[in-house]
Amino acid sequence: MAHRVLRCITDFFVYETAKSVVVKSWSVGIINRVVQLLIILYFICWVFMHEKGHQLRDTGIESAVMTKVKGLGKFNNRVMDVADYVFPSQGGSSFSIITSMVVTANQTQGKCPETEKMFKCTTDGDCMNKLGSNLGNGIVTGRCLNNSDGTDGQCEIEGWCPAEDDTVSQNPMKEVENFTIFIKNSIRFPLFNVTRGNFPSSLNKSYIQTCHYDPVYDPFCPIFKVGDILRHINQSLDSITDKGGEIGININWKCNLDYNVTNCNPKYFFTRLDAAFENSIASKGYNFRFAKYYQSEDGPERRTLHKAKAIHIEIIVSGDAGKFNSVPFLINLVAAFTSVGLATVFCDIILLNFHKGAEEYKAKKFEEVSDVMSEPASNRLYEGSQMSIKALEKRSNDSGTFSIGRRDPSNQ
Ligand SMILES: *[C@@H]1O[C@H](CO)[C@@H](O)[C@H](O)[C@H]1NC(C)=O
Repeated sequence: MAHRVLRCITDFFVYETAKSVVVKSWSVGIINRVVQLLIILYFICWVFMHEKGHQLRDTGIESAVMTKVKGLGKFNNRVMDVADYVFPSQGGSSFSIITSMVVTANQTQGKCPETEKMFKCTTDGDCMNKLGSNLGNGIVTGRCLNNSDGTDGQCEIEGWCPAEDDTVSQNPMKEVENFTIFIKNSIRFPLFNVTRGNFPSSLNKSYIQTCHYDPVYDPFCPIFKVGDILRHINQSLDSITDKGGEIGININWKCNLDYNVTNCNPKYFFTRLDAAFENSIASKGYNFRFAKYYQSEDGPERRTLHKAKAIHIEIIVSGDAGKFNSVPFLINLVAAFTSVGLATVFCDIILLNFHKGAEEYKAKKFEEVSDVMSEPASNRLYEGSQMSIKALEKRSNDSGTFSIGRRDPSNQ
């Protein structure tokens, strides 16, 4: 047992040092050079194809977006202009275009019957259990307002009266398909201090006033027709005005600053952002409420409540820039050079396993030397392996190991 432990320890405490064996064999020599050549070719291709691999990258894009919607529509026999249908009106990167509304005019604070079906009185005229509900247009008082004809009535609520009835259907504003959205996007890559705009400042005024974005014919036109956007995402106008919806306009900047900065231009992509909830029962489409308040002459404060179905538009800016940098390039270069050594591994496998005379090569390559304690023993080692001494004279350029300052006994 102790003997085995000792063997284990002596086997562990060994040092391996490389020894160069020069093999004068045509077949292995050719394989070696071919493999080296292939590795070098591979790396040359790699460097050219992965141009971005040795660039310094800036992903911290800074962006500002300004929007302006234009167009006139008709809704409920009323002409609607931008101030009527764009919400909020500041012209930011996130806004809604209202396509239809349920308007409840002249509301005041008071008590009145609820309009929602779920707030019908129970058969015994009870409304109490509805108290505390977040649904509905007001706080349920508990009183049941039975209809005069004896049928079950609605529960009474306290709040803004008359209560909104949003079941009335309205024809959406169809003209929205001809509305245009002007987008001004300026970005900056802080690392390289490069500033760009989404359209060249050389575009003339008449072009900007009449053009519509098209990925092929007008890729720099910053004006987007709502109908065109819907076509790009394969949606019909009805599918989005029916319940409202969300559309994303992605502005993607991918800039290679090794080239002229005028080549740094954005690409536009369009997505239906609420596509994930297309089949959801709980929440479909996009709508919101807002109210306009006014003071009536006879006293109480009044408001007009609007429930709007809208196309919500979200402008999402993303991108990165790259520029040549020597550090990643050098790292790649060093990796390329060291990989040339892989040819040795490959040739060793062939030489030591599949080549004729593999056993002899193995014996030459792996030589065991026990601890050399005294001078005579060292001499014996030299005499014993003439081969290895001769090999010392030959320089092996491949592994870069050739002896310096070791005297060759035969030269004396
Ligand atoms: C949109 O514009 C086109 C061309 O000007 C016109 O033919 C079409 O009727 C317009 N659509 C609506 C809904 O007004």
